[in-house]
Amino acid sequence: MTVVINMRDGLDERKIKLAARFILNGKLVAFPTETVYGLGADALNTNAVRRIFEAKGRPADNPLIIHIARFEDLKRLTSHIPPEAKLLAEQFWPGPLTMILPKREEVPYVTTGGLDTVAVRMPSHPIARALIEESTPIAAPSANISGRPSPTLAEHVIDDFYGKIECIIDGGETQVGVESTVIDLTSEKPVLLRPGGLPLEELEKGIGEIQIHPAVRGKLIDVAKSPGMKYRHYSPKARVIVVEGRKENVRKRIPELVEEYRSKGFRVGVMATEVYEADEFFNLGKTEDEVARNLFRALRELDKRGVEIIIAEGIEERGLGFAVMNRLRKAAGYRIVWV
Ligand code: TXA
Ligand code: MG
Repeated sequence: MTVVINMRDGLDERKIKLAARFILNGKLVAFPTETVYGLGADALNTNAVRRIFEAKGRPADNPLIIHIARFEDLKRLTSHIPPEAKLLAEQFWPGPLTMILPKREEVPYVTTGGLDTVAVRMPSHPIARALIEESTPIAAPSANISGRPSPTLAEHVIDDFYGKIECIIDGGETQVGVESTVIDLTSEKPVLLRPGGLPLEELEKGIGEIQIHPAVRGKLIDVAKSPGMKYRHYSPKARVIVVEGRKENVRKRIPELVEEYRSKGFRVGVMATEVYEADEFFNLGKTEDEVARNLFRALRELDKRGVEIIIAEGIEERGLGFAVMNRLRKAAGYRIVWV
């Protein structure tokens, strides 16, 4: 009942048409974007969108991002396009940037989680773009069961949704590896709601200083602005512990923690940018970009290898490191060891 379409070797118009037909018929299609895989449905079809929430087990008040392929599509979704939105679109679309704007009446409340605002993004991945062009604006959260790490490979989507949705497009590994940056343009000043695939430094070059919503840095729970912030996120089955601080201290502390937990009888995995001895090890790569690409895969993979504790090395918060550390701290439920 789930059609898996292989498009790892590039765009195939015939296969895109098949997937687009599913979307237009109100079905669910998982597809690659440059950030992570999305679980898509016709954004303006209430029943189709409702099925996304059911399949993911997503709370109804956590709104979805609508994906478009042309700037003109934005006018169908929002009642007002502020100057910053135009400026940002010119510089960063298509790409990993989501803008929150006032919604048009035509956009169903199911899609926006009951809010009068709508999240819109124009992805750059050729498969995502072709699928939208052949169908309609597509509402798509990350294609993972609610609370699990986001999918960066079709295998991750298959693990979570095989047999539960009509179609999965396999486009290979996603490039960026963390979800889009979310910026709210409905207040007086632009506010960052989620660090993501477009670094904050780049955004600020584009439109000047951006406020950071307090929930981005802390575990503050009560946020009406971005309901997604209050839910459990990115959690593998294993317990995650993040080690942050001075490089030399981190290097010393990780092996100590591994021993501590092993002596208590736990199977321990480490994910880091340099090699450590443990029951299982996942190499995250060197640069912030590499770590971002590998992060979610590492969490899923270590789970599969049956570890009970994951010790994760913290990285610098510059570039994509900001998004990485935001996801990692959440995955750890804010169990952070400072050294
Ligand atoms: O890169 C991405 O953004 C991926 C790919 C598939 O495009 N999608 C994604 O969607 O990460 P999701 O649903 O996992 O995350 C959407 C985030 C949530 O934190 C949600 O609360 C926020 O965007 N959001 C959506 N609509 C919003 C709105 N109207 N106001 C504030 N936040 C909103
Ligand atoms: Mg998500």
